Amino acid sequence: MQSNVIKKKILINDQWVETDETHKIYNKYTGELFSEVSVANEELVNQAVEAAVYAHKRTPFAPDYRYDVLMRVSELLRENSDEFARIIAEEGGKPITDAKVEVSRSASTFQIAADETKKLVGEIIPNYNVQGRFLYTVKKPVGVVVAITPFNFPLNLVVHKVAPALAAGNPVIIKPASETATIAIKLCELLEKAGVPKGYVQCVVGSGGVVGEQLLQDERVAHYTFTGSPAIGRHIQKTIGLRKATLELGSNSATIVHSDGDVEKAAAKLAKMAFAHAGQICISVQRIYVQQSVKEQFLEKFLHEVSLLKVGDPLNPETNVGPMINEKEAKRIEQWVIEAKEAGAEILTGGRREGSVFYPTVLMNVKKGMKVSDEEVFAPVVTVSGYETIEEAIELVNDSKYGLQAGVYTSDLNLSYKIPYLLDVGGVIINDTCCFRADQMPYGGVKDSGNGKEGPAYAIQELVETVTVVVNLEG
Ligand code: SIN
Repeated sequence: MQSNVIKKKILINDQWVETDETHKIYNKYTGELFSEVSVANEELVNQAVEAAVYAHKRTPFAPDYRYDVLMRVSELLRENSDEFARIIAEEGGKPITDAKVEVSRSASTFQIAADETKKLVGEIIPNYNVQGRFLYTVKKPVGVVVAITPFNFPLNLVVHKVAPALAAGNPVIIKPASETATIAIKLCELLEKAGVPKGYVQCVVGSGGVVGEQLLQDERVAHYTFTGSPAIGRHIQKTIGLRKATLELGSNSATIVHSDGDVEKAAAKLAKMAFAHAGQICISVQRIYVQQSVKEQFLEKFLHEVSLLKVGDPLNPETNVGPMINEKEAKRIEQWVIEAKEAGAEILTGGRREGSVFYPTVLMNVKKGMKVSDEEVFAPVVTVSGYETIEEAIELVNDSKYGLQAGVYTSDLNLSYKIPYLLDVGGVIINDTCCFRADQMPYGGVKDSGNGKEGPAYAIQELVETVTVVVNLEG
C-alpha cells in the first residue's frame, strides 16, 4: 500500500536537499504521521548563509522584479488555497475554516508587500544651516535576514517576515517551527515557481534548537525577525549583540466591556475570539474586564455563546476549536487551571482535557499571582473579572508584563479618543476584541510583548538601511 505521508526536502542555495536526519510531523488531531521533512546540519546552514550573502552582494533583486514575484506568489497562493489550508489544518490543528482565512490573508500580505516596493524612496533633506550642499537619503537592503517563525500561523507569520524582506530587496533564510514546517516548505516551492532569484529564499528546518543557535551566532546575518516567547526573544537579543531584531512576543491580552458598549455584541464576539485556534494566538482574548453593572448580563450571553462552540476535528468545517499543538501543552494548561482553582478561582465552564484537546474554559474570581491571569496562557482559557470605574479597568489591563493589544467596547467617543494614550499596549481596538489584526496595519507590542512592528509597510522600514548622501556642490 502506498503511504500518504508527505516527504519534504529543504531549500538551500537553489537546491532541494534531502538529509539523513528527518523530522516527523504528525496530524495534530488524529496523531497519524503526516509528513517527514529533512533537517539541516551545520554544513547546510553555513551553505545557506553563504548563498544568501552572495545573493545580497552579487545579484541585486530589482524593485520592479520584486513586485512581479510577490504578486505572482500571491496569485499562486490563491490558486492553491484548498491544498494549503488542508495542510495547515492537519499539521497545525487549525480548524479548516480558519485555515482558509489564513491562506487568503497570506495572499493579501504578499500583495500589500508588493505595493510597498513602489514606495521605497529616500527623501531630500532641507539644507538650512549648510551652504553649497545637497542632502538626500537612499534606502538600501540591510542584507541577510533570518526569519524564525511559530506554529500558530504557520503560513501568514512566515509571509509577514518573508514578503517584507523580499520587498526590501533582502535574501531571507526561513527557520520555521518544526511542528508545522511542511507548509513553510510548500510556500518556498511557490516562491521558487514565482521566480525568486537564486539565494533569495532558503529554508532550514532544525531540531532541538541547534540550527537556530547557529543562525544567531553567524555575524553575516544582518537582521532577525522572530515571533515566539519572550524567553527566546531575550535570548536572541542577547546573542546578536548590536545587530537588529524585530521581536513579536507573547501577551495576556485584555478586552474591556464598558457598560455603555454593546454588551450583547461584545459577549458574542468575545466567545469566538477567546477560543479561536484554541487560544493559540498572540492577541487571543485572555482577560475580560466587564463593568460590574452589566457583568451578569454579559456572563449569561457569553456562556451561552461558549456552549455553542463545536470542539473537535479541524477538518470538519463546523469545528470552532481544534486540538492544541501537542498533548504536553494541553497538560500544561490543565495544570495551570487546577492551580488556579486550588487558589480560589471558579471554573464556569470547561477545565476538561481529552488528549491534546482542551475544552473552552471560562474562569472567574482570578487573582494576581495566578498563572492563568499573569502569564500568557496560549490555550483556550479566558478569565472574566468585574470593575467599577474605567480608571480601575485601565489599571487592570496595564497591570501586566505584556502589552500587545487591548480591546474596548464603549459608545463614549471621548473615552475612545483618550484610552489609546492610557493603555500600555501597541494597539487599541475600539468596539471589537483585542484579537483583531488586519495585515496592512502596524502590529507589535511594548514591554515583554517585544519591539518593532510587523505589517509590510512598517516591517520594511526595519529591513532597509537609510543611507545619507551629502553632495558638496562646490567641490
Ligand atoms: C499572532 O499570533 O501574533 C498573529 C495574529 C494574527 O496574525 O492574526
